Amino acid sequence: MIKNRSAPALKRGLTPSAAMPDHRGLFISLDGPEGSGKSSQARRLVSALRRAGYRVVFLRDPGSTALGRALRRVLLHTSGRLSPLTEALLFIGGRVQLVEERIHPALVKRKVVVCDRFHDATIAYQGFGGGLEVPWLDRLGQRAIHGVMPSLTIVLDVATQAGFARLHRSHDRMERKAAVFHRRVRRGYLRLAKREPKRMVVVDASGAPEEVRRRIWMIVARRLRLAY
Ligand code: TMP
Repeated sequence: MIKNRSAPALKRGLTPSAAMPDHRGLFISLDGPEGSGKSSQARRLVSALRRAGYRVVFLRDPGSTALGRALRRVLLHTSGRLSPLTEALLFIGGRVQLVEERIHPALVKRKVVVCDRFHDATIAYQGFGGGLEVPWLDRLGQRAIHGVMPSLTIVLDVATQAGFARLHRSHDRMERKAAVFHRRVRRGYLRLAKREPKRMVVVDASGAPEEVRRRIWMIVARRLRLAY
């Protein structure tokens, strides 16, 4: 898990390289392209974990801090064009706040944190999708959050067209990007998962929600046995 170097430095908001204190919680993220059903699967997972007696903190990135909510409005609903770099820096800035305010304190209390999207989304959307250099962005993003990364990331995979067919509402700014962008995002997630098979597990989300739920629970239950 994360090695301690300087908890006081974190409190004072000092250097981004100051690592966070050790924790024993379990950090799980759910991620994937548009229309994968990830948010409703995350809710189901949280309910199942709570029923099983775990103390769970359920968050979304961005959107679970005051800054995150403000950034979400800008990032998803502004009418002007934002460059991929601007997007990346805003998403990362929101995530720094999320880690410091919500995720790290929960993990220190040995809670289970379930987060709807996280760092991988920046790599998939702004890196693979938007064309920013992936290794650079990955380093920047991870350093900014003191290396506080999920130990398990479930990537809910769905083909671009099938995913969009499930979105029965008006599209936000990110969803309005071209289909070719979203295909790069999807391929990006799959490449990331290949690169980090221990942390990232791809689940085919094209099937029945109940089957997807069962598969996610099997994966998470196995990790819980190892973690606690
Ligand atoms: P959500 O409703 O699935 O959370 O959507 C947030 C949108 O923002 C979605 O289109 C993915 C996008 N996004 C990025 O482009 N980069 C990021 O780092 C994150 C967290 C989300």
